[in-house]
This record gives sequence, structure tokens and C-alpha cells, in this order.
Amino acid sequence: MWHAGEPQDGVLWVDINWSERPVNALSRATLAELSLLVTHARTDSAIRGIVFKSSKPGSFIAGADVTEFQKIQSPDEAREFVELGQQVFDDLASLSIPTVALISGACLGGGLEFALACRYRIADEGRKTQLGLPEVKLGIIPGWGGTVRLPRTVGFMEALPLLLTGRTLNGRQAARKGLVHDAVPNEALDHVAREILRSEGRNVRPHRLRGVGRLVNMFGPLKKLVLWQATKQVLATTHGHYPAPFEVVNVLRDGIGQPDQEQLRLVREANARLGESPVTRELVRLFFLSERAKKAPDTVGAQADPNSIRQAAVIGAGAMGAGIALLMARRGIWTRLKDLNPDFVSRGMKTVRKLISSDVRRRRITSLEGTQALDHLSPTTDYRGLKNADLVLEAVVEEIDVKHQVFDELAAATGPQCVLATNTSSLTVADVARTVAHPERVVGLHFFNPPDKMPLVEVVRGPQSNPESVAKAAALASRIGKTIVLVGDCAGFLVNRLLAPYMNEAGHLVTEIEDPLQVDRAAIEFGMPMGPLELIDLVGLGVSSHVSENMRAAYGERMEPAPLWKSLHDSANAKSGPPKIFLKKRFGRRLNPAVSKAIAALARPVPLANPSPAGALANTRGPLSPPVPRTAPSAMSHESIVQRLVYPIINEAARCLDEKVVACADDVDLAMVFGTGFAPFRGGPLRYADAVGIAKIVETLDRLASEHPRFLPCEGLRRRAAAGERFHPAEI
Ligand code: NAI
Repeated sequence: MWHAGEPQDGVLWVDINWSERPVNALSRATLAELSLLVTHARTDSAIRGIVFKSSKPGSFIAGADVTEFQKIQSPDEAREFVELGQQVFDDLASLSIPTVALISGACLGGGLEFALACRYRIADEGRKTQLGLPEVKLGIIPGWGGTVRLPRTVGFMEALPLLLTGRTLNGRQAARKGLVHDAVPNEALDHVAREILRSEGRNVRPHRLRGVGRLVNMFGPLKKLVLWQATKQVLATTHGHYPAPFEVVNVLRDGIGQPDQEQLRLVREANARLGESPVTRELVRLFFLSERAKKAPDTVGAQADPNSIRQAAVIGAGAMGAGIALLMARRGIWTRLKDLNPDFVSRGMKTVRKLISSDVRRRRITSLEGTQALDHLSPTTDYRGLKNADLVLEAVVEEIDVKHQVFDELAAATGPQCVLATNTSSLTVADVARTVAHPERVVGLHFFNPPDKMPLVEVVRGPQSNPESVAKAAALASRIGKTIVLVGDCAGFLVNRLLAPYMNEAGHLVTEIEDPLQVDRAAIEFGMPMGPLELIDLVGLGVSSHVSENMRAAYGERMEPAPLWKSLHDSANAKSGPPKIFLKKRFGRRLNPAVSKAIAALARPVPLANPSPAGALANTRGPLSPPVPRTAPSAMSHESIVQRLVYPIINEAARCLDEKVVACADDVDLAMVFGTGFAPFRGGPLRYADAVGIAKIVETLDRLASEHPRFLPCEGLRRRAAAGERFHPAEI
């Protein structure tokens, strides 16, 4: 991987390129190669400096070779692998000659630890350059000196959030924090390296810590105070489900005032422990699944090159359309954004500009990149210029007649090569394609809200979609950096179909338990990013009740909307009373007045004489909603709440697998983690089902079904339970 020619004027230029792999990574073999190179540089007096630069596009060094993790069988092997990297990087750092890392592309994990062991670091300021230590996301902690060198380089206070969250920085952000010495355009990298070596580093300004950051770096007790604060924050955000951030804190705290070698020993021990954790196993597994899902799956049956997509259009410049159009434009696709009239189009463009300026402000992109994205986007109110489009995505209102009209118009406005994709969230592709002249060109591309942040896209194969169209749609999703799951055509596709019973159940639970907010607390404690009530609030009652009506139409009784949601929808429509923000304090977010108000009413002790929430709702100032039957409030354990919320997801997932809506259990897990944030440390709903045991889930669902038939386990779940099967093979 390390290709060095003869030194030029005493400088050894090392080209980093692991030719057999798509990215540069650090394995035992590539570390051993680096070790030989360092020894050579130490002993060859003709070498007076080394410059490391990658010729692999988009990848400086993407990290440790994660396949090595899977080979590790015992804590001893983990210790030994960590020690190997520590040793090699220590040798590199202790070279007496200057070393320069020219960083362009991904410089992550072990890659950044390598760069930190070099004396100088210069980053490319382009979009693809990312620096960070994302180890905690895999359930481990930076092992090869990152926990020692990062705080030393950027200061303890700046290093801590980077270590605890695994957040990445682009070149300019890294330069501001002192992680790299400068960020320059790609073409200037070589020149800057030469200047540094020529001036023996005199032209490099060392990073100076100021203020509190400087004080914290100087005093151990202040570091302990900062760590104590950080622990509280980690606990609040992870609810104790992820051990790695706590190990970071332990290693830093126990390492205060200790020599480097002792600090590195602590890191080895922590990683040996973490390597045994089931959380690490699940996170590493999800990492592999998501890497695989960056490309179209083989099961599509045809291939399309993501780079072959040059022109596209998005119809509907609303909340979804504007964000999706920007994603396309940002990847260099010439994109038209169409809406009904100039006002709607300009509203969409305003959304686009807002997204761009927020990214520029946060230094995620340069203003030049922002301008380039805008240059690739043309707002329009007609269908001109679509004859050469490779793909058009429809994101107009969720009304079948409007969609039919749009698709008919699109069929006439586009060429035969153009894929017609719908972003519908509750209709089927078959429904949408019903009136189109060429239904084989129609597919689903279901993005999640907000499209610029949510990583998942469901690529939906309609009953008549041809493999070429599906492949092209998947290629577009891949081009704009999304995680792809290929799903079959059914109401709600995969994710919304699985989420529907979960959201609905929350509506039942709220009316049954003493403290309605317990529903959200139980879900969050289980590992969901937010509770179902907050989610309903975020999505909006209108959208969720529309979706739940469609679900009931498609799946019948088991998806019958909970009476509370129906009643709330009606009272929200009646625009009742001023908002009473009941949950704002708890969640720090302004919530839908109707939901907040009704939940607040339910949360109030209901007088015994009038135990129905119709009475409670009457306390609010709005018109009376239809009565919602409320059983006498009872205390319910978090475990019981979670069973009622999550087991129906598993039940529905078994149906989806048997109906071949999705190819395998891994895809279900990936889609739910990336589409809804389903507890990643549990590995997704079906890994969770395996951990609980399918037989136990069937037993619980049967018990619940004796009171509410909606819980009845499906045939596929019973079959698996009877056969003692799992959704996944035991080993991963
Ligand atoms: P929206 O209501 O914010 O935007 C829809 C836009 O389509 C409006 O600007 C409207 O003027 C425009 N429009 C209506 N008829 C049109 C026509 N004939 N030609 C061009 N433009 C037309 O809706 P939103 O939320 O962006 O949803 C769009 C689609 O995406 C829907 O199918 C929805 O189900 C789906 N979706 C929505 C999600 C969400 O959370 N909002 C998530 C995933 C999918």
C-alpha cells in the first residue's frame, strides 16, 4: 500500500494506494509494510523528510481494515492487534526527520491516528475530505494513539466531543480546530509540503490554545471536571446503552498524569473488553450491512453506472422535493425543480438556499460548492427540457389523481430512457403507475424526511417495473450517497408498514396508562431516538392519520387506527383553542398543539365520575371531539409497553419476509435502523427478536391477542417459533 520511489532532493514521496481494495485501510499486512518503511527511513541518511499522499480517489486512509476485527477471536488477539498499530505509529512519530501527511479524502479512525503521528498535516479543502475518529460508532475506542495525540493536538476540550461522538470534520473545520496545520486547494498540496520541508517547518504556525481550553489542558482536576460533565451528557444521550463512550471517559480520566505508554495500555485493555461486547458486534455488523447497501444490490437483475446519470428533474418543490433536488444538484447532476407556479417554485428555491447557507455556515461545504450546486439546479413551472432526463422523481402532494395527472404528463415530456420515480409514502407504485403509458419505467424511490439528513432510500420495484429502471433508480440513490434497500410494492413499502403498528399502538397505550408520557419514556429507554408520541407530533397528525387510513385499507383490522389518533385529527382540523405546549419542556421542541393538549389532558388525573378522556378533552377549549374510550388508568411496566410497541413490528416483518417484500432479515434491520433510528445497539428489530427468542414473542403476542386480536402472531412467526428457528443464523 505504501509506494515509495527514490528520494527527490532528500524527500521520500510515499504514494498510499492499496491497489487490491477500493479504499486505503490499515490491516496487519499494511501496518507491517509501513513499519518496514519507517525503519528504512530511520536508517537511510539520504532521506531527510517524508511526504505521505494518497493516489486513491476519495480515500487518504479510511481507517483500520474492519475485516480484521472479524478475525479477532479473543481479548488477547484484540490487545495484540491494538498494540501492533500503537508500536508502528510510535515509531513513525519518533522519527527525527520531518513527516508530512497530505490529506485528501477520507482520513478516519486509524487513518487519522496515522496522520496524527506525522509531524505536519495539510488537508485538501474539497468536499470529500473528512477527518475524524468514528470508532465509538463501531463500539470501540481509538486504539492507535488517537486518545493520546488528539487531545495533545487540538486540546482536551476540543478532543472530547470528537472522541465521544465520532463526529467528522472537513479540511477547513479541521484547520480551525488545529487538527491540521492548514487546509488548501488540492492542487496546492504538493507545493505546501515542499515549502514546509524547505523551511524546516518555520512557515507553519503552531496551534495555540486560548482561554478555558488552555487552562483545562494544564490542570488535571479541571480535566476531571470536564469528564464528569461529559459523562452526564453521554448518559443523557445514550441512556447507558453504548459502553464505548464511557470507556473513552475512563481511559482519559485514568490516563491523567500518566506516561504515554500507560495511557496506551489502558486503551488496549478497554478495547479488549469492548471487543467482547454484544453492542460492538451489532454495530460492526450494521457497518458492514450499510457499506454493502451503498450500491444497488445484485438482486435488481440489471446494472447501471451511478456516474451515467447526468440529468434529472424533481416535480413538486415542497418539503421533500426541494431537499432531494439539492442532493442531486450537489452531486453534479443537472436538475430541474418544477412546481405549479412561480411562487411555489421560489418557495422551494428558498428552502434550497437555506440548506446551502446552513451548510456553508457550518463549513460542511465551501461557498464555491454551494454556488456550483445552485448552478446545477434550474427552477421551472413547465416540463420543457426533460427529453434527455435520465430520471424524474415525482414529489407532489399525496393524492392519487394529482399523481396520475403528473405521470401522464411526464410520460409525454420525457424520452424512453427516462425512469419515472415516485416518492409516495403511502400509495403503491402499482397505484401510481396505473394510468401511465409505460408502467415498466415507473419505480418507487422513497426518501425519508428530512431527505438531506436521513440516510435511507427504499428503492421500490413495482409489479411492472423493469430491472433496468430499478437499477437506474438505485444508481441515482447510490450517486447521492444514500443507503439503499430494495423492497417490493405494498402499502407503506417496508419501513412505514413496520412502523404503522408501532405508532398506532402508542395511541392505544396512551389511553390505558396512568402517565401517558411513559410511552415515550419506555421507547427511549429501549433505545429509540424519540418516543412514538413525539414522532407523531413531528410527522403531523394530518400525515399520520392519512397514512394510517391507507394502512387499514391495505391490511384490514390489525391496522385499524387507534381511536385517539382519529379523535385528535378531527380536533386538530377544527383548529381548537390556543396551543398549550405541554411537552416542550421535556423535549425542547415545539410540539403540535393538538397532540400536546390532548396528552396534557390525558395526563391530568381524570375524576372518577367521568373517566373517559372525552371529558378530559372537553376541558380544553376546542370543540368536543368524539369520545375516546379510555380504560381505567393503570400502571404498566416499561417491559410491557415495549412488548406492545415492538413485537407487532416483528410480527409485521415476518409477514414482509414471507411475502418477499424484502429479501432478507438483514435488510429489515438495516432499513429500520437507518430509516427510523431503531435501537442500533440491538442490531435492528429482527436481531432483537432473535435475542428475545421467537417462541417467547409468539407466546406474548398470543397472550395480548386474547384481549386485542390485532396482536395475533402471523403464520410465519408461528412456523419459525415451532421450528425453533431464528431470523438470522446464530453466528455473524
Ligand atoms: P408538500 O405538500 O410539502 O409539497 C408538495 C408540492 O407539490 C407542493 O409544493 C405543491 O405545490 C406541488 N405540486 C402539487 N401538484 C403539482 C403538480 N401537478 N406539478 C408540480 N408540483 C405540484 O409535500 P411533501 O411533504 O414534500 O410530500 C411530497 C411527496 O413525498 C408525497 O407523495 C409524500 O407522501 C411523500 N413523502 C413525504 C414525506 C414527508 O415526511 N413529508 C416523507 C416521505 C415521502
